[in-house]
Amino acid sequence: MNTPTGSHHLAAVIVLAAGEGTRMKSSTPKVLHRIGGRTLVGHAIAAARAVTPEHLAVVVRHKHDLVAAHVTEVDPQAVIADQDEVKGTGRATECALDALPQGLDGTILVTYGDVPLLAGDTLQSLVDEHVATQSAVTVITAHLADPTGYGRILRGGDGGVEGIVEQKDATDDQRAITEINSGIYAFDAAVLIDALGKVGTDNVQGEKYLTDVLAIARKAGGRVSAHLIEDLWQTEGVNDRVQLARLGKELNRRTTERWMREGVTIVDPDTTWIDSDVSIGRDTTILPGTQLLGATAIGERATIGPDTTLTDTEVGAGAEVKRTEALLAVIGAGATVGPFSYLRPGTELGAKGKIGGFVETKNAKIGDGAKVPHLTYAGDAVIGEGANIGAGTIFANYDGVAKHQTTIGRHSFIGSDTVLIAPVNVADGAYVGAGSALTGDVEPGQIAVARGRQRNIDGWVARARAGTKTAKAAEEAAANAAGEAATKVTGAGVTSADHEATTRHTDDSTEGQANA
Ligand code: UD1
Ligand code: CA
Repeated sequence: MNTPTGSHHLAAVIVLAAGEGTRMKSSTPKVLHRIGGRTLVGHAIAAARAVTPEHLAVVVRHKHDLVAAHVTEVDPQAVIADQDEVKGTGRATECALDALPQGLDGTILVTYGDVPLLAGDTLQSLVDEHVATQSAVTVITAHLADPTGYGRILRGGDGGVEGIVEQKDATDDQRAITEINSGIYAFDAAVLIDALGKVGTDNVQGEKYLTDVLAIARKAGGRVSAHLIEDLWQTEGVNDRVQLARLGKELNRRTTERWMREGVTIVDPDTTWIDSDVSIGRDTTILPGTQLLGATAIGERATIGPDTTLTDTEVGAGAEVKRTEALLAVIGAGATVGPFSYLRPGTELGAKGKIGGFVETKNAKIGDGAKVPHLTYAGDAVIGEGANIGAGTIFANYDGVAKHQTTIGRHSFIGSDTVLIAPVNVADGAYVGAGSALTGDVEPGQIAVARGRQRNIDGWVARARAGTKTAKAAEEAAANAAGEAATKVTGAGVTSADHEATTRHTDDSTEGQANA
């Protein structure tokens, strides 16, 4: 019985991924190489899942354990089918059918693990055409200017597909045919199972060819159709690293175009790289040299870049992230980050917060409106809402053995050049004087100053550096001051502002904020 059974549900997609991929010259199996942040087989699985099959099988052999583990990680429901030592795409498909429940009916799709640009909607239109034409087999074909290496589509006098001949088995006349087999098919399940039992290995390569199923189905009276597509990228496989880069670039072109059509401004798509699993809100602007990687999610009206790499990072609406590297970080709505900031895993910046230039953060929860504007390392930190961390502050979280946490309360101020030696807590509404090396907690309303008191030694320069330009400058300054004092005595006298400036100079209570 080689006519369709009448049941049209999509029983399974079989992804063939047992090939070795020797031309990659890699210790990593070919299908585990990545473009757009996903492995090649990851792209194949995503396309397969887009058409919601009842079952999904991936055929593996080369570097079996690595590929199988990855497939299970990407898609825990996928069935792993092992190909034995019999070679060929027909045998690979047979091994998948052995691993799936027996006696499937309806439609079965076969795709490849190394054809990453094949889209789910192309597979859907293949299924639709296959069902509408009541075909036993429908194969995706394309016309190529240079069809070398591909199987060629043999059409009969009526234009119907009679079979496929491999390049290596083809006559000169057949090699002149430019319509090629993509290797992607829809089969009636019963036809496929029956025909595969009849496929031999009598060909130049001694392999069990899946392509032989078409002629067998046709001879048994089934209809064999071609689904000709124009978008040649969708049938192109990766065989070497030149193709990997070429397809990676085209995938990125498609991804950036998709986001522009969704309302995202991308100033320079050529230098912007966006992984397949990234999401971006409307009216966000991406500036040149930006890479949005992994599961990064950007809200609406944000500005990202230039020269920014965000991996698995979440950015809230209206945030600005400039010249920044971030990994597993969360940036709140309306927050600003950069330039030259490094956000490591566990960084959470609150709404309207700020992480500024030459600041590195790790496992740091920074509250709404809190600011870490300049030259800081904040590791294992909890910083309250509205707090302000002065320039050059270091959260010394590591004592050489263990990591410890520092907490800074709401609306507290940390003076510049402070070392917070963890574990240490600064309460809400407290100050720490600039230049402190803080080892103890600070209570609400206090200022803590933990540094040497300033000592000024009169006449030191004249004694210890006599004859230097410094000593001469000191002498001149003293002479000028004496002259000015004489003028002031005859004039208005010492002002209160001058007096305050003099005392402030040695006052330990100065908080010394250098940030704006
Ligand atoms: C195959 C087709 C050819 C088509 C071309 C499109 C056959 C006999 N030929 O040729 O008509 O034009 O694809 O690219 O089907 N694979 C396995 N197990 C195997 C052999 C292959 O899983 O034993 C997988 C590979 O991992 C790969 C895919 O099947 O993903 C195609 O294998 P490949 O060796 O590239 O097939 P071609 O000889 O190029
Ligand atoms: Ca191939």
